[in-house]
Amino acid sequence: MSAGQLRVLGDATFTAGAVNAVAGGRVSGAQTHHVERVEHSQDLIPDNHVIVLIGATGDLARRKLLPGLFRLSEAGLLPERFRIVATSRASLSDDEFRALARDAVGAFARSTPSEEAWAPFADALTYAVLGDALLPAVEHAERTIGGEVTRLHYLSVPPAACAGIIEALGSAGLNQGARIILEKPFGSDLKTARELNETVHRVFDESQVYRIDHFLGKETVQNILALRFANGVFELVWNRDNVSYVQIDVPETLSIEGRAGFYERAGAFRDMIVTHLFQVLGFVAMEPPTSLHADALVTETVKVFDALRPLRPEDVVRGQYDGYLSEPGVTPDSRTETFVALRCFVDNGRWAGVPFYLRTGKRLAEGRRVLTIGFRELADQLFAPPEGFPPRELVFDLGDPGSISTQFLVKAPGPTPRLAPAPFAFHYEDSFTTTNQLAAYERLIHDALIGDHTLFTRADGIERLWEVSAPVLADPPPLHAYEPGSWGPEASHDLIAPARWYLPSSREEADGQ
Ligand code: BG6
Repeated sequence: MSAGQLRVLGDATFTAGAVNAVAGGRVSGAQTHHVERVEHSQDLIPDNHVIVLIGATGDLARRKLLPGLFRLSEAGLLPERFRIVATSRASLSDDEFRALARDAVGAFARSTPSEEAWAPFADALTYAVLGDALLPAVEHAERTIGGEVTRLHYLSVPPAACAGIIEALGSAGLNQGARIILEKPFGSDLKTARELNETVHRVFDESQVYRIDHFLGKETVQNILALRFANGVFELVWNRDNVSYVQIDVPETLSIEGRAGFYERAGAFRDMIVTHLFQVLGFVAMEPPTSLHADALVTETVKVFDALRPLRPEDVVRGQYDGYLSEPGVTPDSRTETFVALRCFVDNGRWAGVPFYLRTGKRLAEGRRVLTIGFRELADQLFAPPEGFPPRELVFDLGDPGSISTQFLVKAPGPTPRLAPAPFAFHYEDSFTTTNQLAAYERLIHDALIGDHTLFTRADGIERLWEVSAPVLADPPPLHAYEPGSWGPEASHDLIAPARWYLPSSREEADGQ
């Protein structure tokens, strides 16, 4: 997090006892609470921009990007003067696109837009068919704004279309005075990732490129860094001497939601593991960066990826939910996985020998994003833990609004030295007001607008992740069937035994979640 990033994260005012980390339950409303707001100081207002939304009629644009841009506009975090040039292959007029955008924002924004907020935003929206019409449309938008204008291209198109569009932006001179946000997946293996990076670098300098992984825009994911590097008590035990395993678990209840065209080529491994779960692993495992500046922080995550041991197919369990083959657009004999669980290792002094367990899948029993750090027990157990008491784990719920919690043992009141579990928990909603908070995409689009690379990934890191994944892509392990609504194939439990997945967990009930 750069200084700018920290300001966007909110201006929390603390009073003694306000942070809800007390044994025995949540702090009640009687405590003084925090105020979080998005500051509108001048350095958070981007320079005047033309935002070029490429793939503007696609699923991501409708679900996240258009609602996200509208939210930024409502929050006063777009430039004083901006235009959005939306483009895709569809033949639409400005008004037709505005109607599409209005529907998307109505369906997917967090609140229904008022006419008052919508009208100026709609006014800034224009549409051009992707191709020769784009350059004049951007130039027209620039003249409308007047003066110096920065270009921000948001490339949200299928991987196969990326290279051609990047070349076309270069030929049209649209790479000048521009930044570009690239959506994942960045290639589909090491070879294609290298080719894509070469294409990108022929047209854009790396300093102009923002490879987005929206998990890094999530508030709780950034809190991994705050917890570690602002609190010695955690950082001092954040190593192989004290940690026995790490789990990064992102089960989803969603199916492929009509995205067969994309998903059939990607599968859970490329869609989630090589991207979001490995990026979270980078934050969990990194060494303290020398500063919170983008270069220092991203360099540390890349060092983690360098130390990742290449995956072995026998450490990976793949699954496919029953019924996947009947999803519209899926080939009847598809071998695409909708579930992956794996074990991997970071071969460096801090983590040698500590397994990192990663799991994700579609149509599972719960939709969650959970990071669990499992701690070693004392060699000499003076007190016998109560039967069934789980290992000591620090649990990050990476959802929105999220939480960080653990359970520890206390002496139960009474004449005998009986122990009982007690929760120790921080819940965002108890300690911060969440109004004005930016969702992950909103935060990251704003970061690109102000030129902050901190939460974006880098070409060398991406290539290394494909390199580490190559043995599994070359020799995919067997595909196990699983029941929709279950926790995936049995083999995924065997993979981590004698440890167990934190989810599903009755321990959370004790913590009042
Ligand atoms: C996307 C994947 O990148 O992330 C989807 O393509 C997945 O398949 C989604 O559902 C999960 O993101 P979130 O923010 O909803 O956890």
